[in-house]
Amino acid sequence: LNKPLWRLRMMLLDVIYFILRNSVRVVMRPRTKPIDGELVLITGSGGGLGRLFAQEFTKHGAEVVLWDINGTLNEQTAKLVREMGGKAHTYTVDVTNREDVYRNAELVRKDLGRDVTMLVNNAGVVAGERMLDCPDELIERTMKVNCHALFWTVKAFLPQMKAQNHGHIITIASILGLFSTACDYCASKFAAVGFHESLAHELLTEEFEGVKTTLVCPYIVDTGMFEGCKIREEVELLLPPLEPQYCVEQAMNAILIDQPLVCIPRLTYLYTFILTRDYTVFLCTSIA
Ligand SMILES: NC(=O)c1ccc[n+]([C@@H]2O[C@H](COP(=O)([O-])OP(=O)(O)OC[C@H]3O[C@@H](n4cnc5c(N)ncnc54)[C@H](O)[C@@H]3O)[C@@H](O)[C@H]2O)c1
Ligand SMILES: *[C@@H]1O[C@H](CO)[C@@H](O)[C@H](O)[C@H]1NC(C)=O
Repeated sequence: LNKPLWRLRMMLLDVIYFILRNSVRVVMRPRTKPIDGELVLITGSGGGLGRLFAQEFTKHGAEVVLWDINGTLNEQTAKLVREMGGKAHTYTVDVTNREDVYRNAELVRKDLGRDVTMLVNNAGVVAGERMLDCPDELIERTMKVNCHALFWTVKAFLPQMKAQNHGHIITIASILGLFSTACDYCASKFAAVGFHESLAHELLTEEFEGVKTTLVCPYIVDTGMFEGCKIREEVELLLPPLEPQYCVEQAMNAILIDQPLVCIPRLTYLYTFILTRDYTVFLCTSIA
């Protein structure tokens, strides 16, 4: 039989299978996986969403490793986790510094005597200025935190996950990684989406089915990160900023069923279908 044709047929069958499976999943939610006993590393754990992720993973019985550039904020997160009866280990790490990442990855391994099995790449920054007003250093910082750091952390922890064929890599991107609004941030989140998708494909083709991936694309969340950003009035009527807790709970639901992609809230799935990338007037009337 003609090989390319055969492949094409298998691909079409796959597509049909995934469409059917996902339709069924809308009605019958699949069972969530237990994550007690997992060691979860969260970057940017001193901030709004990172802290809530630490608490959610703790609720589900996981042990958390907290990485943040700000030791004070990170300790506060650890304190909250411990008050819940959870186990937290803090490290002050600048995820843009690859030597720092590799060194601390080794340190975690030595300190805890076990491998990180889930990685939540959550640290993120935004400059939120118009293209020509944005200082070069801030543009560079955004690319380094939101994009480059993904390479360093995945390089540090993926080998252990592959060796066990067990693990989960979660990328907190943004709905702004699917269509655009703020120059530095969008470019970096588009990059994060591209990074995540190629990682997922690589794992699939190499048949490491035990290493899962989830791409999380939230709409604007009320954490203060986008303080200066005014949402267009028409849009805000339909889509007010998300409650951080709601955002993290929705993300957790997706992670626990190994869902490959989650957009929060659901309404934004529609936007991703309807809006072409040329539709630039989408979200904000002003930034910063
Ligand atoms: N807030 C939103 O509207 C929104 C929407 C969609 C996606 N996101 C994404 O969610 C993630 C979390 O956002 P948030 O709202 O909690 O932000 P936040 O500013 O509250 O927290 C970010 C945390 O990352 C840490 N951090 C920054 N640079 C770092 C570095 N170089 N190394 C280590 N840690 C560093 C900060 O210290 C801070 O604790 C980000 O990736 C963000 O882009 C946020
Ligand atoms: C950590 O964050 C707090 C609160 O935002 C801030 O006051 C402090 O200066 C920060 N520390 C460092 C080392 O950046």
